[in-house]
Amino acid sequence: MAKSSEESPSRRTFMMVVIGLISTVIGIALAVPILGAVLNPLFRKRDIVWTKLGKISDLNLKPLTPKFVPVYFRVKEGWSVNTLPRQVVVVKQVNGDLLFFSNQCTHLGCPLHWIAARQKFLCPCHGGMFNATGQVVGGPPPRPLYQWVHKFGKDKDTVYIQNKFKDNPKDRGI
Ligand code: FES
Repeated sequence: MAKSSEESPSRRTFMMVVIGLISTVIGIALAVPILGAVLNPLFRKRDIVWTKLGKISDLNLKPLTPKFVPVYFRVKEGWSVNTLPRQVVVVKQVNGDLLFFSNQCTHLGCPLHWIAARQKFLCPCHGGMFNATGQVVGGPPPRPLYQWVHKFGKDKDTVYIQNKFKDNPKDRGI
């Protein structure tokens, strides 16, 4: 009898440890999916959405004379919905085609300026230069200007822009 009463505290301790371990495992099993659901939006890719650029006929485009048009994308990021301001540079080509460039330099992303006297986009950061067809004509940029994904409305005049570049290797919103 004396032996049994000596073992009792250690058995009780053992049972408490086992119960504690089981509780911990159950707690983790419940917490993981809840945490996953809560944190998931933080790690998701930015949504890809359309926004209206406007009517081409309102831009009074002249060949090889860029028009910088601001657009705003409403995208879900994490738990909030944000408005992302971006620039679309619309350039009518000599043959009448329209190109919808990003105003970001393809070197490190600085915003470009159009220098009318030189007929070139100039990057103020490292002197990158592009012509009106988007080709690199000077400086370190490794590739031509990015072009926004776009589509025309039923009226064939209104243009919609997606927050995505045509040849962007990353499948995510910009
Ligand atoms: S960011 Fe434009 S040349 Fe470097």
